[in-house]
Amino acid sequence: MEETLTYISKNQNRYINELKQFLSIPSISNDPKNQADMRNCANFLRDQLNDIGFQQTKIFPTNGHPIVFGEWLGAPGKPTLLFYGHYDVQPVEPLELWKSKPFEPTIHQGEIYARGSVDDKGQVWMNLKAIEAYLKTQGSLPINIKVLIEGEEEVGSSNLENFIYSHKEMLKSDAALISDTPMLKHGLPSIGYALRGLAYFQLDVTGSHDDLHSGSFGGAVINPNFALAQIILSLKDAKGRILIPGFYDDVVPLTTQEKIEMSKLPFNEEKFCKDFGVPTLFGEQGYKTLERIWARPTLEVNGMSGGFIGEGSKTVIPACAMAKISMRLVPNQDPKHVAKLFENYLQKITPPSVKLKMKYLNGGKPWVTPIHHPTIQAAFRAFKKGYGTTPVFIREGGSIPVVAILAEILDIPTALMGIGLPDSNTHAPNEKLNLANFKHGTISIAHFFDEFSTSIPN
Ligand code: BES
Ligand code: MN
Ligand code: MN
Repeated sequence: MEETLTYISKNQNRYINELKQFLSIPSISNDPKNQADMRNCANFLRDQLNDIGFQQTKIFPTNGHPIVFGEWLGAPGKPTLLFYGHYDVQPVEPLELWKSKPFEPTIHQGEIYARGSVDDKGQVWMNLKAIEAYLKTQGSLPINIKVLIEGEEEVGSSNLENFIYSHKEMLKSDAALISDTPMLKHGLPSIGYALRGLAYFQLDVTGSHDDLHSGSFGGAVINPNFALAQIILSLKDAKGRILIPGFYDDVVPLTTQEKIEMSKLPFNEEKFCKDFGVPTLFGEQGYKTLERIWARPTLEVNGMSGGFIGEGSKTVIPACAMAKISMRLVPNQDPKHVAKLFENYLQKITPPSVKLKMKYLNGGKPWVTPIHHPTIQAAFRAFKKGYGTTPVFIREGGSIPVVAILAEILDIPTALMGIGLPDSNTHAPNEKLNLANFKHGTISIAHFFDEFSTSIPN
């Protein structure tokens, strides 16, 4: 083990240089223009798996972007770990706000700036480099390992469920490991034991065939922007409560014990406001901030468009208006069921003088797991060794659709050992990975393999 950890320390520079190459590939999954980049990125990863000593590697094409798979099964009798990550990244707009180009990784004051540096390429790299360190120093790993890296996480993992379903035997494992979540704060290793789910919709409201002169038609027809605003206003009340009938029916409330544990976590509302530039916080009444982010469902308007938004004025009644609406879901809400409830409600609240089209774009189920599970406890010990600090257990407000799929189809638990930070700027301009954190993370993952090797009775 010592030798493996020394190898990790000694090879930091090379690790980072290789990561820069990985980060230079613009693997934006939602843009058809980047299809070739997606394939290049998958090939790059496969070559990497071969280089570090995987016994089998394969690229699986899907209806969307390819899935990269690899396995090393040289530890018979030892448990098998399924590592999951994603090589796709979010779009980079608005480009003008980046201090360095998103696909020209740049190191500045101990951080590497690039799209995907944290979400999730840097964290995938950290796991692959921990594997490399074992194989290069010991010639073996203390566990069997399968690696599944997809290219469609940021667009809802829509081809992954079928893939996992039809490759159950190949993916059979005792537990999964994912590094794709943030820590509660810098220096405090955090183990996620719950994720929110997601249901994402597009609403299109149409009035007339074409835009209309607001003088000739104003007073005679409804304005789709207005109708859409009314629809949106009917979705939540002023206290932040979602008004869709039945929406909260399946929500599992937090236990008193969990609330107590949460309130002990280091979380400072004033600092939170200051860090993110908001005057005050806002959310559903009756809950604390962390409770709202982690254990309550929410509804957001991600974006709206409609009508004239150019310079100066133009007197027009737009023909249509559009909104992107998403809901974060908590156990035991189901995205498809929520979509039905939403659709029923929309039919009721849409003014009769417009046509409304609702489209379900993507989603994923929420997930929660008991923290006393041996795999989660192995993650706890590993983080403690890697950071020299006692980790905390946290829920996560974000979503990783695969986690619920793994629980359902493969019946395995997942350890979330992410090393993102609250100020990593994921999905935003100037996404950055803290290099010290990358190193501690890699060491923690190496410890995890060791801890996991003895954590499941077999
Ligand atoms: N790494 C995030 C998930 C995440 C973010 C977990 C913050 C915990 C806290 C992941 O890449 C992501 O962005 N997921 C999407 C999922 C969606 C597109 C189905 C998300 O949460 O918006
Ligand atoms: Mn991610
Ligand atoms: Mn993401």
